[in-house]
Amino acid sequence: MALKVMGFAASLRQNSHNGKLFEVAASLLDAMEGVEVDRRSFAEFEMPLYNQDLQEEGFPEGAERMKAAVEAADALLLVTPEYNYSIPGNLKNALDWLSRYRPGPLRDKPLLLMSASPSMIGGNRGLWQTRIPLESMGAVVSPRMFGLSMAHQAFEDDGSLKSAELNEQLDGLLADFVEFARALTRA
Ligand SMILES: Cc1cc2nc3c(=O)[nH]c(=O)nc-3n(C[C@H](O)[C@H](O)[C@H](O)COP(=O)(O)O)c2cc1C
Repeated sequence: MALKVMGFAASLRQNSHNGKLFEVAASLLDAMEGVEVDRRSFAEFEMPLYNQDLQEEGFPEGAERMKAAVEAADALLLVTPEYNYSIPGNLKNALDWLSRYRPGPLRDKPLLLMSASPSMIGGNRGLWQTRIPLESMGAVVSPRMFGLSMAHQAFEDDGSLKSAELNEQLDGLLADFVEFARALTRA
């Protein structure tokens, strides 16, 4: 049985560096035997700011779509920008909505975090912050993360990574994550 990996980049911007990194990772996963990738866009999960009064009227469509996509997956790939050394507010808002479902859709889901940033630090400070709500919601966040620094100079025009060495590192990290996820899900 194939391991289903659902993922998206948490940026709404055209030409997003995180979107490009997500696509490189998704293509590497596509090439692995027994792995199916469900590519999503963050835009399809758009939802209002969390408000308990709204929740009592019913969850917004974007939250319902995100919950369904998470539930249908064996494992998750989240590629997120770092905003102000932390998790982008729109991603945190989406996680806050998801956290109100019972049972929690993220519970026991293996999850790999990655980030792309034009800085030298590659979004690593934001990744550590992003782990916190995910872990509180029961996701099994891989201890290994991937931060792409100097992201504005990292890609060829066709979207591939300029550095073959980095591409190889990413491929190895993804292969290890697939093993990690299989061990947890037996998929
Ligand atoms: C509100 C905001 C805060 C940001 N804070 C950081 C930061 O703390 N660290 C960082 O490396 N880049 C920061 N940046 C720059 C982003 O890394 C850069 O805009 C990046 O291209 C965003 O990802 P994207 O290309 O996938 O949209 C920030 C950008 C915005 C819009």
